[in-house]
Amino acid sequence: MSRFVVVLGLQWGDEGKGKLIDHITDERVMAVVRFQGGHNAGHTLVVEGKRMVLHLIPSGILHPGVRGLIGSGVVVSPMALGADIHTLAENGVVDVHERLCISPACPLLLPSHEALDQARERRGSGGNVAIGTTGLGIGPAYEDRAARRVLRIGELRDPVRFRSQLSQLMDYHNFLLSSYYHAPTLDIDEVTDHCLAQREWLLPLLSDVSQALVELRAQGAGVLFEGAQGALLDLDHGTYPYVTSSSVTAGNAASGSGCGPRHMDAVIGVVKAYATRVGDGPFATELVADSPVGRHLFERGTEYGATTGRRRRCGWLDLVALRRAVQINSVDGLALTKLDVLDGLSSLQLGVAYEGTDDDVNATPQPVYEEWPGWEEGAVAKAQSAAELPLAARRYLQRIEEFVGVPIELISTGPERGQCLIERHPFATD
Ligand code: GDP
Ligand code: IMO
Ligand code: MG
Repeated sequence: MSRFVVVLGLQWGDEGKGKLIDHITDERVMAVVRFQGGHNAGHTLVVEGKRMVLHLIPSGILHPGVRGLIGSGVVVSPMALGADIHTLAENGVVDVHERLCISPACPLLLPSHEALDQARERRGSGGNVAIGTTGLGIGPAYEDRAARRVLRIGELRDPVRFRSQLSQLMDYHNFLLSSYYHAPTLDIDEVTDHCLAQREWLLPLLSDVSQALVELRAQGAGVLFEGAQGALLDLDHGTYPYVTSSSVTAGNAASGSGCGPRHMDAVIGVVKAYATRVGDGPFATELVADSPVGRHLFERGTEYGATTGRRRRCGWLDLVALRRAVQINSVDGLALTKLDVLDGLSSLQLGVAYEGTDDDVNATPQPVYEEWPGWEEGAVAKAQSAAELPLAARRYLQRIEEFVGVPIELISTGPERGQCLIERHPFATD
């Protein structure tokens, strides 16, 4: 029986979605689908000691025969896509072209979107504050989509029309860059020629993702929908304005891929055993970077952004924000990652309430903490099953489950592909 499972982040991104998706992709999975975001995502896969980061291509692609689908909700930079294909080829995956399927309706992310993103961040967004974006043009590309002036990848099929439409759009971008942001403009012909030069390899990848999903369903396939970013970066429900420009919640897995919402069978939420954030914005349970625990989390967790290399801010797990993320995504089960990073801490804190606010994740309230005992060095990393976890770790997990009201079904205990304890596989139907 077919099973469509959404896997998404419940914090501020970088929860370990890529590793988890790679791990649960087995013979039941015929395709993995991206439905939102762009190459602001950085999903890390570590297989036999080799680390690679994918930005646009879905994480199941390392498994032979598994298809990678990119739905129309994803903003696509051909350059970033080419870089992913190159990364995969370097790692011995050479048949990506046969397995990749991109919706022709994907908005085309241009170098001028990137220039606008960076100019705006330098100046402070729309006259307000800088967001700490990845600077890759994601926001401006989604803005153009909403304003109905973006070019879609499929328009590359008609080079004459493409040239004229791109010229109009870039005229507008250049006007903004020069007159509003006092930033350098881009050469329209150069950008157009560069885009058109990608047609040869890009056009054969375009096909109807929505139809592919109908067929996969009819074939009884397992399909994973791979979220990018995390619930607290969601455009509507995150810590606005310090958010990304797409809808990252489970609801958008359907519309961003062109699949009917009733065909989603389950939602798995990925959450770190603590919390990190890269970029600006509120973070109630943040620790001072050079405090002993702040340093422990940062160093043990190697908390550097996979896309920008920026240092990630670290803190305790915020159960109030997590419970809300579980609710807005109708999460069925949790995948808890990086539990090994807590090894060796003598005590742990869990944020369980906010002082003087009404569970508002958009402010930076004072958290109220509950203290839990830690466990010894190396104990999680060496556990081969959930039952082998130290008692203190099991109690910590139970408290999380009890607070948010859903079970922890997968526990990731290290960055390598095999390092994951499975309590219940997302494709189990019992
Ligand atoms: P994503 O964007 O959600 O796919 O996550 P990233 O790849 O940006 O960041 C997660 C980081 O944590 C990567 O460096 C992973 O290799 C690493 N990682 C994932 N799971 C675990 C885990 O269970 N333990 C440890 N120590 N590292 C992990
Ligand atoms: P993955 O999929 C972590 C953050 C940026 C910034 C905000 C807006 O790897 O989890 P944007 O460039 O999207 O306009 O930036 O969102 N951000 C991420 N943080 N992981 C990501 O993706 C992110 N994608 C965007 O740092 O705060
Ligand atoms: Mg990431």
